[in-house]
Amino acid sequence: MQNSDIVVDHFGRATLSGPYPEALNEILSPAMAKAAYAEISSWPAYQPTPLRNLDALAKSLSVGAVYYKDESTRLGLGSFKALGGAYAVLRLAATQIEAKTGKKAPLSDIRAGQHSTALSELTVVTATDGNHGRSVAWGAQMAGCACRIYIHAGVSEGRKQAMEAFGATVIRISGDYDDSLKVCADEAKTNHWFIVSDTSYPGYMNLPRHVMAGYSVMATEILQQLEGKRPSHVFLQAGVGGLAAAICARFWHSMGNDKPRVIIVEPTRAACVLESARQDKPMTVEITEETIMAGLSCGEVSLLAWDILSQGASDFITIGEDGIGPAMRLLASGTAGGGEIIAGESAVPGLLGAIGMASRKDLRDRLDLGPDSTVLVFGCEGATDPAIYKAIIDAPSDRDDALMEPWHG
Ligand SMILES: Cc1ncc(COP(=O)(O)O)c(C=O)c1O
Repeated sequence: MQNSDIVVDHFGRATLSGPYPEALNEILSPAMAKAAYAEISSWPAYQPTPLRNLDALAKSLSVGAVYYKDESTRLGLGSFKALGGAYAVLRLAATQIEAKTGKKAPLSDIRAGQHSTALSELTVVTATDGNHGRSVAWGAQMAGCACRIYIHAGVSEGRKQAMEAFGATVIRISGDYDDSLKVCADEAKTNHWFIVSDTSYPGYMNLPRHVMAGYSVMATEILQQLEGKRPSHVFLQAGVGGLAAAICARFWHSMGNDKPRVIIVEPTRAACVLESARQDKPMTVEITEETIMAGLSCGEVSLLAWDILSQGASDFITIGEDGIGPAMRLLASGTAGGGEIIAGESAVPGLLGAIGMASRKDLRDRLDLGPDSTVLVFGCEGATDPAIYKAIIDAPSDRDDALMEPWHG
């Protein structure tokens, strides 16, 4: 595989120009993003994650800069998902206490255990590939409520155990992610449990907004870390699209019409956002083969995320499986610049998408990528399953150096 073969499919469309549309405030408003930042940045374990400058890679691609938001250390959970699920659990807990007592319950009181007796009767549930469940389990532990997590057949044992370590009961079902979502929804309905999902669907639209508000903290940090420098291109991997929508919205809030070009990257095996862009409506795709990018193995786009991305994202691309190992090893080696970086399987698709687009003249031109571009990618997770991470890092291939091949124009 050549770098120019990384991008398997590209679909481009116009975005809405002008400021962030009023109508999208109902999904993720500047006030919601601000509230999430105020709360999350007050958590004792909070620290902004590093924005790494992959200067050697930028040079070889002949672009101005490539920045990598490194989520491998986020809140001790190892992925950006720590920002969303846990925050949504606290918001849900506050709503329940308010409904019970008639008084507002600040999230800091919930975290301090002031309502733990009442909250011990609350059960939160979710379906997950691993990282979201870890965040929900952690949030439930913070709030003092019970937690049940539904995982599908393909979720690794290591990821299951990480959720159990936060006190969650983990239920493995046969089938894929979308099947686990259905079982979770059915059991929640029967037992009056509360779903804390990172995806939205008909009849379930409230909490995923707060999950996305939590994710938007990454963009708030980046705006501070870039010190006024404007990213021109943002490559965002998508599962259900929540992460991508949150970042797209937060940059749109703060930069208006100068928002960066948003490029969505998905595995060819689970490209529901690309299919939605093609059909111009939210779509479901069938997953016939699991992708190694476990966090992106979603066949159904989040409706709320689609509302934002359909207006704010311009390009939708897919990548195959072959570049994941080489990209993880490239970052681990430190040769791309920015030091040695621990990046999991779902952390590198954005980076691979950027390399693939910048390595093909036609795609480079279509995206207006060049020496003036400031490219931003998201390293969404570290070694969230250490055994899988080690197996991939310990198996170098001839392809590894190819990702740093200079662009010759
Ligand atoms: C590490 C990682 N990256 C990216 C994603 C995709 O996020 P979203 O489903 O919000 O698009 C996930 C989702 O689980 C993930 O765990």
